[in-house]
Amino acid sequence: MAGNWKMYKTPAETTAFFEKFRPLVEKSSHCEIVICPPFTSLVAAVAAVQGSAIQVGGQNVAWAKEGAFTGEICGQMLTSVGASYAIIGHSERRQYFCETDETVLKRTQAALEAGLTPIVCVGERLEERESGNTANVLIGQFNKGIAGLTDQQFAKIVIAYEPVWAIGTGKTATPEMAADAHRVIREQVRAKYGKDAGDAVRILYGGSVKPDNVKTLMAQPEIDGSLVGGASLDPVSFSSIVNF
Ligand code: PGA
Repeated sequence: MAGNWKMYKTPAETTAFFEKFRPLVEKSSHCEIVICPPFTSLVAAVAAVQGSAIQVGGQNVAWAKEGAFTGEICGQMLTSVGASYAIIGHSERRQYFCETDETVLKRTQAALEAGLTPIVCVGERLEERESGNTANVLIGQFNKGIAGLTDQQFAKIVIAYEPVWAIGTGKTATPEMAADAHRVIREQVRAKYGKDAGDAVRILYGGSVKPDNVKTLMAQPEIDGSLVGGASLDPVSFSSIVNF
């Protein structure tokens, strides 16, 4: 269960969040818990989760190890402050910052090289769903992006299916819609990396996951976890998602 804080929370707000959140998930050993704060709050988050099982991640990773890349943060910088995960290819990155399947692949490879677990996001836009192209879009994003990984690299990633029209809109995919999309992705994984990899890969659902819909989403065997935006900002609501 991963929280994507997007561009919210200062270090002080991060510390305050974990003071409330930690006791609420102290006994939650059924899943991994990851919070991805903004880069400037990573240090505060890592300090606040010390001694707990909660992990911390970045929201992006540069494809280079270092260099003249103004505004970028590389994988080793993330691991050096104690992050262990990184979200890659979120639809907001694709929509507002020109992220493509090709850059998603390069960033994923760089994250793996640094020892991070990438959470690689895919998902269709509203017009793509309405024109009946959801599966084609997912297959395209898989083949142009993720499929460039080796078997060993693939074994270490997490995939997040996030229909763009469901992000921050209050519209959730129905559990059946989400499960259908997850099956499409899993079939691609099986075809490219084999049955075992298809069975083993964790596919998270993201898009307006809330305490009141998480249970029915997680009841789908195809859905292995959630990537939560808005509802991860509040310790009580994110803990009830974690403890669905
Ligand atoms: P949301 O965001 O839960 O606010 O819809 C999900 C995401 O963008 O990861």
